[in-house]
Amino acid sequence: MHSIAVLTSGGDAPGMNAAIRAVVRAGIYNGCKVYGVYQGFEGLIAGQLKEMSLGSVADIIHRGGTILRTSRSQAFMTPEGREKAKANLDAAGIGNLVIIGGNGSLKGALEISRLGINTIGIPASIDNDVVYTRSIGFDSAVNTALDAINRIRDTASSHGRVFIIQVMGHSCGELALFAGVAGGAESILIPEIEPDFDQIALKIENGLKRGKLHSILVVAEGAYPVMELQTIIQEKTGQDTRITILGHVQRGGTPTAVDRIMASCMGKAAVDCILDGRVNMMISGVEEKTHAIPLGEVVKGTHTPELNILEIARILST
Ligand code: F6P
Repeated sequence: MHSIAVLTSGGDAPGMNAAIRAVVRAGIYNGCKVYGVYQGFEGLIAGQLKEMSLGSVADIIHRGGTILRTSRSQAFMTPEGREKAKANLDAAGIGNLVIIGGNGSLKGALEISRLGINTIGIPASIDNDVVYTRSIGFDSAVNTALDAINRIRDTASSHGRVFIIQVMGHSCGELALFAGVAGGAESILIPEIEPDFDQIALKIENGLKRGKLHSILVVAEGAYPVMELQTIIQEKTGQDTRITILGHVQRGGTPTAVDRIMASCMGKAAVDCILDGRVNMMISGVEEKTHAIPLGEVVKGTHTPELNILEIARILST
């Protein structure tokens, strides 16, 4: 009989609960013992493990956050911390670990796999910064940001203002890109591309000339400091420019259907990997289509946003 531990790590993302549910239910269905690890890698080091039942994941598929809680563990970055985590798994007779999290968490997954624990990663991050896959939580965060953009558009039009809307994404601009395109933003600033302030100002001025009542700039948090951007835009265009920082609002809330489906399929696929003896993999995919790729490949790459979408945004916002 296989024993599996499951944990969530790093920034929470809507759909993590659906993924936990899928791992627990698919594991138990296949005769495995499944343990939940509380508080991510911190909890693994502290030995905070509890055996899960079918009922312990009831009524969570629709809930944001993570019932297992999460952490950004400094201790797990040390060899001593990882050895302690491995010792706790060994003591409980657990040979398989499913880690649900973003880029940093999957790097941690590879590290512990090197100590002899079969580790399966499930990508979950509102930033969508994991390479070769869509991440659980991204779709929900895009929709949350979009809802905010729609609301801001109302007030921006009423007052004839420029709005700078900062979304999350410290090093990956995909959330800004998708929310900006879906929200019809005039300009989208992402960390991967140097901003062209003259071009941004020109777009605002062209909009004004054809009677546009507002302008929306969607800015990833890692792209440019929004206060400085506000000053630049005001100086270049003379327009009343306001800032809205969406922040952690984007991390919470009920997951979309897309995220729940992805989480369900990825969770089941993670258990399938364990049953099939495919070790140290990450489940990748979009929506219901999943496949397993070696964890070692994942941590080598960096996710590049779909820049063709930026080009579409540029053309459509002229
Ligand atoms: O990694 C996801 C993310 O939401 C980033 O976009 C953001 O920079 C960061 O987490 C914020 O993390 P914390 O909640 O730890 O401040």
